[in-house]
Amino acid sequence: MKSIKYANRIASIEKSTLRQLFDKAPPDSINLGLGEIQFPTPEVVTNRAIDVIRQGNIRYTPNAGLPELQKAIADYYEIPVNKNICVTSGAEEAVFASLFSFINNGDEVLIANPTYIAYKTIIKMLGGVAVEFDLNPSSNFELNRNDFTNKISSKTKVLLLNNPSNPTGKCFSEEEIDFMVSKCNENNILIIVDEIYRELYIDNRPTTFLNKTGKIIVISGLSKSHCMSGWRIGWTVSNDPKLIKPIIISHQYICTCAPYISQKVAITALSVKGMKAQNDIRLVLKKNREIVFKFFEKFLPDLFILENTSSPYLFINVNNDSMSLVNDLIKNGLIVIPGVIFGSNGKNWIRLNYAIDKKKLAKGVYLIKYTINKNHK
Ligand SMILES: Cc1ncc(COP(=O)(O)O)c(C=O)c1O
Repeated sequence: MKSIKYANRIASIEKSTLRQLFDKAPPDSINLGLGEIQFPTPEVVTNRAIDVIRQGNIRYTPNAGLPELQKAIADYYEIPVNKNICVTSGAEEAVFASLFSFINNGDEVLIANPTYIAYKTIIKMLGGVAVEFDLNPSSNFELNRNDFTNKISSKTKVLLLNNPSNPTGKCFSEEEIDFMVSKCNENNILIIVDEIYRELYIDNRPTTFLNKTGKIIVISGLSKSHCMSGWRIGWTVSNDPKLIKPIIISHQYICTCAPYISQKVAITALSVKGMKAQNDIRLVLKKNREIVFKFFEKFLPDLFILENTSSPYLFINVNNDSMSLVNDLIKNGLIVIPGVIFGSNGKNWIRLNYAIDKKKLAKGVYLIKYTINKNHK
């Protein structure tokens, strides 16, 4: 019997390179490669979930999310609720539903090189074309303004940014933001900014892009800020309800609504108590960062580590194409991510997640030293 053919939109999409790398690692490996914070969800949140479950009556919610949760999200941004919010099943669905709502076949979407890997795949699945602009690795991944301007064409529909950045942990400067916003306004380009790491700042909380100009959609959620990746709560928000309207329609036909229990719990996560627990997570990460920097000073003082302004990632220059080092590290029981996965400008870099206990961090940095000394000097 003939096999059933996959749809064209999925046929050319492989299991992610990250997953393929993880699959090669020995079972007891130290994993500094994950994209999440490996701490428990705060008790104030889990206790609330137990109450909600006990009350029973777990139902559909309005497509755009429970009104009380929309209000809590609006309060977080200090804006009024005005059909301008859609609660989604994680930030990933928010990215998908937003692009689904705005790009047609052949439309171009500007993304940074390097940036979060899922963007390129989602754009491709939706028939769009990802066009990369340079963040310059030899000047701390600053925006290359000429390249940005040159990459804008008559087909450019959306600029999709991630701020703070996965993988670099850096934020764009005010000047870079103003430059990109003015170019987008001149060329009628919608700006979508994924701010999922905003609350994990080291010293200064990044300003949201939300109020930078009219044509902006901001995406965020609770996966990283509150160690709630399994609860699947994200959102899209804009000052312009017209930009959120098609997203609510798309979201309705993707998953009807985000999970009821998680939405109830999200209200607690965004309350004063919930944000206090969130800040505790931020401070633990800040401490871990100090510790990991000390380990690098001790074991590998010659490696250049990019100064991150947000947790949990360190982007580290290993001087050569990092892929063969990463393969050897994996054989030696340490998972880190080769920077090239995020774009060609990350080729000589590795991404390390320090949201893990100190012993594993120390062992991880030691394994990098051991592997470099043995095979990569
Ligand atoms: C930049 C970025 N956006 C979105 C996501 C997905 O977040 P969520 O768990 O809310 O879907 C991730 C996860 O790693 C991410 O790094």
